[in-house]
Formats: sequence, C-alpha cells, structure tokens
Amino acid sequence: MEISSIFVIFVLLLVHCLMASTAVAVRTNITTDQSALLALKDHITDDPYKTLASNWSTTSTSVCNWIGITCGAKHHRVTALNLSHMGLSGTIAPQVGKLTFLSHLSFRNNNFHGSLPNELASLRRLEVVSFGLNNFSGMLPSWFGFLPKLQVLYAYRNSFEGTVPESLGNILSLKVLHLRENKLSGEIPQEIVTLPNLIEVTLANNSLTGHIPNATFNGSNIEVISLYMNRLSGNLPSSIGNWLPNLKVLYLWENRLEGIIPSSISNASMLTELELGANYFYGFIPNTLGNLRHLERLNLVNNYLTRESSTLELSFLSSLTNCVNLTSIVVADNPLNGILPKPIGNLSTSLEEFVAFNCNIKGIIPREIGNLSNLMTLSLYDNELTGPIPTTLGNLRKLQGLFLQNNRIRGLIPNDICHLRNLAELHLDHNELFGSIPTCWGSLSSLRNLYLDSNQLTSIPSSFWSLTDMLQINLSSNSLSGYLPLDVGKLEHVTQMDLSWNKLSGDIHAIKGLCSLVNLSLAHNKFQGPIPQSFGKLISMERLDLSDNNFSGEIPESLIKLKCLKDFNVSFNRLQGEIPSGGVISQFSALSFMGNQALCGPPQLQVPPCKTTSQTTTSVIIRYILPAMIVAILALFLIFVLMRGQKRDAKLKGQGDLLPLTTWRRITYLELEQATNGFSETNLVGKGSFGSVYKGTLSDGTSVAIKVFNLNIEGGFKSFETECDVLCSIRHRNLVKIISCCSNIDFKALVLEYMPMGSLKKWLYSHSHFLDMLERLSMMIDVASSLEYLHHGCPLPVVHCDLKPGNILLNKDMVALVSDFGISKFLGNEDSITQTMTLATIGYMAPEYGSQGIISTRGDVYSYGILLMETFTRKNPTDEMFVGEMSLKGWVRQSLPHSVIEVIDSSLLKRGEENFNAKLDCMLSIMQLAITCSTEAPEERSNMRDVVATLKSIKLKFLKDVRED
Ligand SMILES: *[C@@H]1O[C@H](CO)[C@@H](O)[C@H](O)[C@H]1NC(C)=O
Ligand SMILES: *[C@@H]1O[C@H](CO)[C@@H](O)[C@H](O)[C@H]1NC(C)=O
Ligand SMILES: *[C@@H]1O[C@H](CO)[C@@H](O)[C@H](O)[C@H]1NC(C)=O
Ligand SMILES: *[C@@H]1O[C@H](CO)[C@@H](O)[C@H](O)[C@H]1NC(C)=O
Repeated sequence: MEISSIFVIFVLLLVHCLMASTAVAVRTNITTDQSALLALKDHITDDPYKTLASNWSTTSTSVCNWIGITCGAKHHRVTALNLSHMGLSGTIAPQVGKLTFLSHLSFRNNNFHGSLPNELASLRRLEVVSFGLNNFSGMLPSWFGFLPKLQVLYAYRNSFEGTVPESLGNILSLKVLHLRENKLSGEIPQEIVTLPNLIEVTLANNSLTGHIPNATFNGSNIEVISLYMNRLSGNLPSSIGNWLPNLKVLYLWENRLEGIIPSSISNASMLTELELGANYFYGFIPNTLGNLRHLERLNLVNNYLTRESSTLELSFLSSLTNCVNLTSIVVADNPLNGILPKPIGNLSTSLEEFVAFNCNIKGIIPREIGNLSNLMTLSLYDNELTGPIPTTLGNLRKLQGLFLQNNRIRGLIPNDICHLRNLAELHLDHNELFGSIPTCWGSLSSLRNLYLDSNQLTSIPSSFWSLTDMLQINLSSNSLSGYLPLDVGKLEHVTQMDLSWNKLSGDIHAIKGLCSLVNLSLAHNKFQGPIPQSFGKLISMERLDLSDNNFSGEIPESLIKLKCLKDFNVSFNRLQGEIPSGGVISQFSALSFMGNQALCGPPQLQVPPCKTTSQTTTSVIIRYILPAMIVAILALFLIFVLMRGQKRDAKLKGQGDLLPLTTWRRITYLELEQATNGFSETNLVGKGSFGSVYKGTLSDGTSVAIKVFNLNIEGGFKSFETECDVLCSIRHRNLVKIISCCSNIDFKALVLEYMPMGSLKKWLYSHSHFLDMLERLSMMIDVASSLEYLHHGCPLPVVHCDLKPGNILLNKDMVALVSDFGISKFLGNEDSITQTMTLATIGYMAPEYGSQGIISTRGDVYSYGILLMETFTRKNPTDEMFVGEMSLKGWVRQSLPHSVIEVIDSSLLKRGEENFNAKLDCMLSIMQLAITCSTEAPEERSNMRDVVATLKSIKLKFLKDVRED
C-alpha cells in the first residue's frame, strides 16, 4: 500500500475516534434519532405515496412506531431504517450519520440522488446496507471499507464513479458485494479478490479494465462472480477452475478476454451457469465441460472457439449429455466447423434452448434432435446444413421458435411440422425446399411470423389462410402458383405480407379486408384485374408494391387516403386513366408509374397530360409526342438497367421491412433543431457529397450524429432513401446503427449513433494519434466482418460501393463501424451483378465499376483490398507518388515478398524492434491477402467470408508468435 493511502486511513481512523468520543460526551438518546430522521424527511423532495408525510409525525407516536423503523428492544434506539420501494426523491441528509445504533440501512429502489454524505462513515454498527436502484453519483466512498461489521453492501444500479476502493479489502466480514451497473473504472483491486468470506461479487456493467487478477478468490467460498460488460482483458488464469470449489455462477461476457478456455474450468464442479460470450476466446471448447454435472446454462456465443479437431463431430456436445439439468446451450457465432453428433439426442430433456447460428456447421440435422422434448428455441440459421428437415422435429411439442434459414436444407416441408402447436416463429427461408406447403398447415395455431421465402415451393394449401392470428408472412421468391382465395381476407391482423416473385394469378379482391397491413408486396406475379377501390381503407399501409403484374383499369382515387404511404409502385402493369392528383399518390416519382399502358397526369410523372385541348398537330408533336418518344427511349434504357436492380430493390424492400422497426424513436424536425442549436456551424462535423453531418444531443442526453440530406442536388433524395432502406433492413455490430429517420417533404435526415472517435482516416493521417498494428488489424477484422454480413448474411446481399477510410468510424471502444450507405445497392443473390451510374470514390473503385458501372460484391472486395493496403502503409491510393503506371497496388505488389518492410508504415515496423519477425510475418500475410482481394479480374478475387477467416487466423498466429517470442 502506498504511504499516501496509509496516511488517509490513519486520518480516517483518527476522525472516527474523535467522533466516537464526542458522541459519548454528548450522550445521545432516542431524541437524537428522532431529529436525525426528521432531517432525513426534510431532505426528501418528493414522496409520491405520502408514506412518510402522513406517518412520520412527532405528535402521535414514538419514532419506533414509524413506518420503516425498527428499534432495539433493550436500548430503545433505531437499529434498522428501511425506506425501500417508496418512490422517494431527494438527497440523503448528513444527519443520518447520527443514527449510531443502525445495523440495517436500506434506501433500495427509490429516486435518491447526489453523493453519499461522509457522515455515514460513523455508522460503525452497520451490517447490511442497500443503496441499490437509485441515482446516487460521485465517487464510491472508500469509508465503506472502515465499517468493521459490514456483511452485505448493495450499491448496484447507480451512477457511482471512480475506482472500486481498495479499502473494501479491509472488511473481513463482507459476504455480498453488489456494485454492478455503475460507472466504476480502473482495475479490480487484488485486495477484494482475496476476501475470505465473500460469497457473491457483482462488478458487472461498469468500465473496469485490466486483467482478472491471478489467484482470484483462491481458497475462498465464492459462489457468484459476475464481471460481464466491462473492458477486462488478458487470459483467464490457467488453473482458475481448481480453486473455486463452491463457484456456481461465472459471468464474464462482453469483455475483451482472450486466450483459451482453461480446461481446469471443468474442475469447478458446482458450476451451474457459465457465460463467456462476446470475448476473444479461441481454441477448443473443452470436451471435459461434461464434468460440470450441475451445469444449467452454457453461453459461449461470439468468440473464436472451435471444436477439438480429432473428429469432425462437435464432440463437446456429446460430453454435455452428462449435465442432467442443462436448460440452455448458446454457442452461436463461433467457427465450430463441424457436424452435429447423434448423441445430441441424449442431451438433457430439460434443454429449452439450443442456439448455434453462424457456426459453419455442416452435414445434416440428426433425427435424434427430436428427443429434446422440452426444447422451445432451436436456432441453427446461417450454417451449411444440408439434407432434409428431420420429421422428428414434429416431436418438439413445446417448440416456439424454429430458425433454420440460410442453409442448404433440401426436400419437402414434412407434415410433422404441423404438430408444433406452440410454434410462433418459423424461419425456413433461403434453403432448397420444394413441393407444396403441407395441407395440414392450419393446425399451426400459434404461428405469428412465417418466413418461407427464397425456396422452390410450388403451392399454398387453403388451410394456410385459416391462421387468422398471423402477423408477418413472407413467401416471396418461390414458384408458388394459383389464386388467392377469399379466406385471405380473414388474416385481419397481418401487418406484413410479401408474396412477390412467384407465379400467383387471379384478382386480389380478397386482400381488401386486411386493415392492419403496413407492407404489402405482390410484385412480379401474374395478378390481374383492377386494383380494388376498397384498398383506400387499408389506412396503415406504408409500402404497397404491385409492380410487374397484369393489373388493369385505373388507379383508384381512394388511394389518396393512404396517408402513411411511403413507397408505392404500380409500374409495369396495364393501368390506364388519370393518376389521382392531390394526396400522396402523385407525389411519388415517375418510377412508380412507368411501363403502363395509358396512365396520364402531371408532366413530372413522365406521362402524358390527361386533358385533351385543341392544338395544332405540330405543337402536339413538339409538346407531347416528341417528349414521349424521348421518354420511351429513355424508359427502354431504364427498363433495361433497372429491371434487375429495380426488381431486386422491390423484393428487398418487402423483406427489409419484415425486420422489427418498432424500436425506433420518432424524432421531429423541431427536436433535431433543438438538438443541434438550430443546425449551427459549431455543431457541424462534416460535409459530404450528399449533405451535412451535425453532432447533436437529444433531450434525453443521447449524443447522436444527424445526417441532413441536401435535396436540392441531384441524387440527394435517392441517397436518403437508399441509406434508409439499407440501414433499416440490416443490423450488425460493425455497422453504424440508425436511431431514427426524420422525413418531411422538404427535409430528410437520418439520426445515427454518434461516433466520438471520428473516422479511421482521421486516425491514420493525424500526427497526434497513433494506431498500433494490432489495433489496425482488429479494425480491419471489424470492417471485414461487416462486409461479410452485408454480402453473405443479409436477406439480400448489399454492396456498399464506397468503402474508404473516411467511411469507417470508430466508437468509444475503438471498434470500427462501416458507415455511409448513400450509394449502396441491393443485389438479387450473392453472385449477381447490377449496373449503375452513381460514382464511387476514385482510387478505391474496382476497375469494372469505373469502366462499365458493374456492381457486385466483388467490387467491395477490391476496395477492401485497397483499404487494407492503405491502413498498413499509410499511403492514400491517390497520393501524389502514384503517378503514371505506378499505383498503390502495384507498389505493394512489387515489394512482395522480400521487401515488404519498404512499404509498411514506418512507425509500425522498425528493424531490430521487439517482435520484429512476428510483425513482419503478419504484415506480409496481410499484404498478400490485400493483393488477392484487389486482383484486376473480379472472378479471381477472394470473398469476404474467406477474408474474415484469413484475417482472424493471421491475428491468432500473430498473437501466438508474440507470446512465444
Ligand atoms: C435526551 O437527552 C436530552 C439532553 O441530552 C434531554 O433533554 C431529553 O429529555 C432526553 N430525551 C429522552 C427521551 O430521554
Ligand atoms: C405508521 O405506519 C405503521 C406501519 O404501517 C403503522 O403501524 C402506524 O400506525 C402508522 N402510524 C401513523 C401515525 O399513521
Ligand atoms: C498465477 O498463479 C499461479 C499459481 O498460483 C502461478 O503458477 C502463475 O505463474 C501465476 N501467473 C501470473 C501471470 O502471475
Ligand atoms: C437437478 O435439479 C434438481 C431439481 O432442482 C436437483 O434436485 C438435482 O440435484 C439437480 N441435479 C444436479 C446433478 O444438479
């Protein structure tokens, strides 16, 4: 301990002695307690249930009868004060420090604020203290450490700051320490982890840093260690499991821990909950986890863990069959790369949740999975599963959510699925299912959200439409044919219905009663007949896409009542007559109406005017026929270009919408104006090609970035729409999150998460900042992961099109997030391409994009390669040294493999420095990867899945080399 802290403790002790002696001199009694309590009452500013106001009164009874007060039998002094759950506001009066006989003190769950008065340090008889669930702030007081009898300290869910006081290590009697959900920082003091009697410690959800101290709780009786959501780093002590014989709960998720999961963990034989998710753990999931007989919950989500490599089977799952009370297994987002073993059927029948999405799981789903009779959630999406859906899934009678989307599951949907009477969410989309949807479908009475899109299904049974509680239905991109029966009209709660890209025909009168519809897409089918007049009653409708069918007749006047309509498309039908003016319909662009037979209306919709006035033939030709011909030629061109892009857009809009948008906050122009001091210059943080970005603070204190689109320039509106569409339909931890959109006719803005650290560009080229090799590599993995998600993990692939250091933003933890989706594009499927005329940034643009406007995911891979080179060479591709034949790419390629050091940012790598060889190796591998990303021929480029895998293994190798050096 430092001299200064010894001095502080000495002074504190001295103060305590003095206070104790003055107390003796004054001879306190119950009157002292009463005036202390009245002072406490005086400091309370709000007492919503009038609990104290009516009860704590001096006129009637002794304080010992007041609510919340307990007095000692012998000495008739206040020993317990319990004001929990009273909804009180105010601060704590310093006089509370005079209640010197107190042993129990609870202010739990109120709205007290301010800091804790130092006078409380004189309550030396305290055993149980709760300040939990208030708004207390200031430093977490170190005098807690001088309360010699303290056993339980609750200070969770407040805003205490500073470090965890080392002095807490003095309290040998301490059993329970709950400090979670505060703003504590610094390291976990060694003094605490050696407390012999501690049973529960929660420091979760703070900002603690540093390592988990070696020998944590060695030899103690600890049962609960909860440190999740901090910034702890380093490895777990390798023998950790050997010294925690009583440990039941270990929560370490969302930290920055790395290294392997020590196999000693299997010796902590009382463990019931082991949660290590969202860290950087790598290596094997130990096969000995099955030794933890009492294990109930296992969560390893989002690490770099894999299976033991002796067999292809995920044998750790077989070992878990020993855990008879296991209810939850969550191992998603790990490169497990294996097959599901048959013994999976012998896992505990208590199992309620099995979550293993995005794990590169191959092979079939074993039939044995049908033994897990209490399973409620089965999530295996985003894997490489093949084979059929096992019929035994029908035995999982408690199943509520089945997520098998994005695999290569092939075959019929088995009738057995119809037994799942509790199933509410069913996602089988993006597989290779064919045949009819089973005719027994009507028994899935709990079903609410159904996604069967992107398969090869051929027919919808009539019982399908009897599920009248359905909310979301997506059957798009199949080969469904037939008519929509009148029963469709019974789905009166359905909000999202996407039937696009099928071969459905007949009229659509049945839809007119679906009054809850928000999003309806019937695009690219063979529907015919008129658009029903009664569609004007579907007043919740925001997106209506009827494009590319055979609808005829007029656009009903009643549609102008659809006030919420944001997207409307009737292009490529056989509609005629006047486009309804007034209301929303005529405010959509010409693209919504193109390709029809004989629509007429205002000139901006590029249709002929409706009124026929007498005019000379020449003026008719000049005024109407000529422009019409030009329009027709342009339209033909546009049709050619847009048919694919537009179709895919439409298809995606349907799907994107099906993602939950309800978490959005509505934000008005006025709020944004206030948040940015009237869009003042001082709040302006950047200007781009499509508008300006302001920093703002919303009324609740959230910092946000507000991107205001300039609607006066060409493309401004489109850019807003595109960015909105993209950001609303995707979600990934390395993509900038959208908080809200603000869209008026003449003002469009996106409200985005604020990124306090600015862009990668700023960090790379600034002279005051420096990013080391590992930081840059981690950021590049972040960026690659987001692209992997955009290209391979979204409902429809998204191409970013403008990847560069300026569009990569850093959050407060220096995690890289990709932003700026103003010119991105949706594609129909992974390998498809589209064409465009929007311009990306010179230097990062793939050659086929620059010369022919061809867009594909491979174009992003090219830009990513350039980005990799720039990040580690600190040379911009448009740097003046790259003239004539010499480009950044050429310069890097020439240096490989022997003189790579010549091109690497000189501050990253110097001969003779520590770990030089490991660094050089790492740089060489990265530059080689960069070159394979940016080869000239698109088809020779790598893809983002492989890039992510390669980068992660480069990082692992580097970390390992450094350790062994
Ligand atoms: C408490 O002590 C004060 C003086 O120190 C005295 O005036 C008062 O009467 C005492 N009250 C009781 C209840 O003994
Ligand atoms: C105060 O509350 C306590 C406990 O609810 C009750 O016993 C007592 O009678 C109340 N006193 C007054 C004056 O309301
Ligand atoms: C942690 O402690 C163990 C034994 O208690 C010791 O073998 C090991 O070297 C220590 N590790 C560190 C990093 O101090
Ligand atoms: C499983 O849970 C039951 C009921 O809670 C309990 O009695 C039993 O001891 C547990 N078994 C194990 C191995 O933990």
